[in-house]
Amino acid sequence: MQTQELLDRPHSIDVPEDLQGQVYSPKGISYGSRKFYIESYGCAMNFSDSEIVASILDKEGFSPTSDIFEADLALINTCSIREKAEDTIRKRLEYYNMVKRTNRKMMVGVLGCMAERLKKTLLEQEKLVDMVVGPDAYRDLPNLISNVYDGDKQINVLLSREETYADISPVRLDSNGVSAYVSIMRGCNNMCSFCVVPFTRGRERSRNANSIIDEVKGLFEQGYREVLLLGQNVDSYNWKDPENESHVVNFAQLLEMAALVSPDMRVRFSTSHPKDITDEVIYTIAKYHNVCNYIHLPVQSGSSRILDMMNRTYTKEWYMQKIDRIYEIIPDCAVSSDIITGFCSETEEDHIETLELIDYSQFSLSYMFSYSERPGTPAAKKYPDDVPVEIKNRRLSEVIEVQRTISGKLNEKDIGKEFEVLIDGVSKKSELQMKGRTPQNKVVIFDSQPGLKAGDYILVKITGSTTATLFGTVLKQLNLNTTA
Ligand code: SAH
Ligand code: SF4
Ligand code: F3S
Repeated sequence: MQTQELLDRPHSIDVPEDLQGQVYSPKGISYGSRKFYIESYGCAMNFSDSEIVASILDKEGFSPTSDIFEADLALINTCSIREKAEDTIRKRLEYYNMVKRTNRKMMVGVLGCMAERLKKTLLEQEKLVDMVVGPDAYRDLPNLISNVYDGDKQINVLLSREETYADISPVRLDSNGVSAYVSIMRGCNNMCSFCVVPFTRGRERSRNANSIIDEVKGLFEQGYREVLLLGQNVDSYNWKDPENESHVVNFAQLLEMAALVSPDMRVRFSTSHPKDITDEVIYTIAKYHNVCNYIHLPVQSGSSRILDMMNRTYTKEWYMQKIDRIYEIIPDCAVSSDIITGFCSETEEDHIETLELIDYSQFSLSYMFSYSERPGTPAAKKYPDDVPVEIKNRRLSEVIEVQRTISGKLNEKDIGKEFEVLIDGVSKKSELQMKGRTPQNKVVIFDSQPGLKAGDYILVKITGSTTATLFGTVLKQLNLNTTA
């Protein structure tokens, strides 16, 4: 992966690069008379939310368009995680402003985390915005839209303790028809001192396990072969059945329920918090062939002093033990991470500890960022943002370089091995090649063969690699029901 791509990557949850900031052109939506256009930024949760918004708008008779110049309603689903993410959105709003000069009927709505963080100041600062809607208020969109038509600017940024949109069937937007996001919880109860998410997404709540499993079953029936269970901290998933208080489902149990939907349905999840991932979860991954051997386990820093200031509630040694445990129980597991460089007071020694921990953990990849102070967060209140930007960036480059070297070496070690690959489409570079992923979430490119299509499982022998990609030859097509 290129340095710039890593710098640009807004969030750890694995949104494919080609989807970042993407304009959705949903398929299969009934066409009404009004048209909506939506762009999404930030993490997979936001992309998943846009699918809920599309479903709500569909019921209101809005049809999708990828041409903003013909839109009656232009929506931007926003991210606040770093200053740069918000700057990107502001630039897009300037563009919307320009479009509005030609397309005067267009109503503009800001959704998501930036809407929640900035609230009515967005209406005041960005004069063209008609509507500001926070992540828990999407059910109110029909009402807000009709009020805007009546001439009033609208805002709903109420956060909820209950909303999980459990009953709304997301309209799969720009999907490859193979992989789908399934949101299992919302909000976050952790207070990592650098992080804006608890403020923009509110309290943690778990979605009804039965509705999650029904969604997974429905996806399988529609031909999907992979689900990505989404939450900011999936390991703290804990759903209590309101009809039977003693029936509680934890994350390991939910994983098992999802795995049992079909052995041909891959199950992935993101994000795990090191403090909450249990042996029970790790054993469940090991037990089920279709629960992928891949864990995104952000460490943030290798210095216990910095981890304490970040309020991550674990030390370097504790994290190392978790890593040991994962590789002990699942020897071929890939682990990836998020790293922040230049957090408040970070010294050269702290930074070196981070480099050492990346090496110890042998991450398959990391999403790496330099610290960006977010107004109102505990870190912004308590600690000066005192690492000069040049040092933050130099440390970031060093972290990227160490990670690249490790990714490259790990990929080289895969040469000669055989992997089960789920095909997800045609390679971007050549029509004659296809691509898919190993259970470890590595992209594999291989020559197309007659009869192979997205959604098929194949056995591939790895013949080459770069730091970001594996190359292989197809050995045979698999029927997982017989190989599981
Ligand atoms: N819930 C996930 C991550 C959510 S945010 C977890 O707990 O790991 C995604 C990533 O963005 C974080 O892991 C962190 O590495 C990065 N990030 C969050 N706030 C940041 C900030 N203020 N500056 C730089 N990076 C940040
Ligand atoms: Fe942010 Fe921490 Fe919650 Fe992740 S666990 S969303 S980093 S507060
Ligand atoms: Fe996601 Fe960005 Fe919000 S990372 S939760 S969209 S602040």
